[in-house]
Amino acid sequence: MAPLSTVTRTLARSAAVRLPAATAVRAMSSSPALQDAAASSSSSYQSPFKGDSASSKIPDFSKYMSKGKGGSNALISYFMVGTLGAISAAGAKSTVQEFLVNMSASADVLAMAKVELDLAAIPEGKNVIIKWRGKPVFVRHRTAGEIDEANQVNVASLRDPETDDQRVKKPEWLVMLGVCTHLGCVPIGEAGDYGGWFCPCHGSHYDISGRIRKGPAPLNLEIPAYDFSEDGKLVVG
Ligand code: FES
Repeated sequence: MAPLSTVTRTLARSAAVRLPAATAVRAMSSSPALQDAAASSSSSYQSPFKGDSASSKIPDFSKYMSKGKGGSNALISYFMVGTLGAISAAGAKSTVQEFLVNMSASADVLAMAKVELDLAAIPEGKNVIIKWRGKPVFVRHRTAGEIDEANQVNVASLRDPETDDQRVKKPEWLVMLGVCTHLGCVPIGEAGDYGGWFCPCHGSHYDISGRIRKGPAPLNLEIPAYDFSEDGKLVVG
């Protein structure tokens, strides 16, 4: 058996050998590089700031996550998309509709585009004046004598050469704008040197076919677009 002094000396020597190893392990565990390595082994996140342990913390977004199932979120999404789509479509339709309504003719303009006149109410040898698009329209139910008179005129002698046939669709009905071709006055019916119309503004005379015969007016009275309906009506326009 070894003496007590020898045993004490042996223990003291072995403790001196172990002490540096323990100190080295403690120093290595406090190294930031080793801590990063340990963190990376448990997470795939790679911090761009090496060595900065505060910035390598991953934020916690769990409070933003839905508590319900995934289907409930999809339902809300579909509802929102559908509702916004329906509102947008209704707005677009309303805008286009307003635009088209503004561009189209108003009711009073449409009403004036065409004018109907019952010809049965006009006796032979009489004039009627109607308003069409803001202008007077002369309608005369001509007699057989007036039609003959209109056809006997030498067309070559006229300032604005037109035969009577060119100015009427039915010989007994003369339809023309009541606007003097000089400066736009309204001529007077059954007056003037030629038994037709007379413009008192500057003295233009038109014959029974509405052709200029005397005075400053350069042209015959204008013939508007018109037609006869099957029920005996005149449609101007
Ligand atoms: S406006 Fe008719 S003659 Fe001058």
